[in-house]
Amino acid sequence: MNSDNRPIGVFDSGVGGLSVLQQIRADLPHETLLYVADSGHAPYGDKPTDFIAQRAAIITQFLLEQGAKAIVVACNTATAAAIADLRRQFSIPIIGIEPAVKPAVAMTRSGVIGILATGQTVDSAKFADLLNRHGQQAQVLAQPCPGLADCVERGELNGPRPQALLNRYLQPLLTQNIDTLVLGCTHYPFLKPLIKQIIGPKVMIIDPSAAVSRQLSRILEGLHQLADSDALSGERYFTSGCVEHTAPVISRLLGRTITLEPLPLAF
Ligand code: DGL
Repeated sequence: MNSDNRPIGVFDSGVGGLSVLQQIRADLPHETLLYVADSGHAPYGDKPTDFIAQRAAIITQFLLEQGAKAIVVACNTATAAAIADLRRQFSIPIIGIEPAVKPAVAMTRSGVIGILATGQTVDSAKFADLLNRHGQQAQVLAQPCPGLADCVERGELNGPRPQALLNRYLQPLLTQNIDTLVLGCTHYPFLKPLIKQIIGPKVMIIDPSAAVSRQLSRILEGLHQLADSDALSGERYFTSGCVEHTAPVISRLLGRTITLEPLPLAF
């Protein structure tokens, strides 16, 4: 078999992973994509590791039951908490996302990089290991950002609340002379216009979704599991949260109206 038209499953604690889904859609136009927003349990950033790992396994099981050929964990927090377990439990390709420390260290001129992420990601063993492996050549300032992903969950991409939070989290990094800023949570790319306003044109922003999408393409290509070029691509969206609240937020973030389905109760 040289192609595989089964869907790719993508999930996040909520709507943040749509920043990754958009990139995958742009790079792989023939693929069918299934997206799960675990909004009923968001944010993951302040939940215990075991809970996140359990949710990640339950959602992966659901996506497998929908016929997924690969899973993209479009959440830094869930990747740090659960990807090793997921790879042990499930035999299909599982692609994760982590803060782009390596490219940031390669790009910085000031030698100081900032990382915005959830508290769970910053405190994780996986992040400590990432810094050990790739963060030695620069000063890495990891800033936990409680409350920021919630703004995106509510569709609040500008206004006083996200502005105040971003000021609080970014000013100390700017004072310490960062010239490179890593978006270490998939919700944050949706706040880029606001972030740019605060950090100005001299600080580079790194969003790892392009690297994740490339990695997904490489893996599927290697396995001869990309969809046919004449395949009818589609998309389905599911949430464990409130459909009425989440559907307009997803439609707004994607810039088009989508249909949102409730995640079946068993999940
Ligand atoms: N989007 C998630 C991430 O990439 C986490 C947001 C949250 O649920 O706290 O880390």
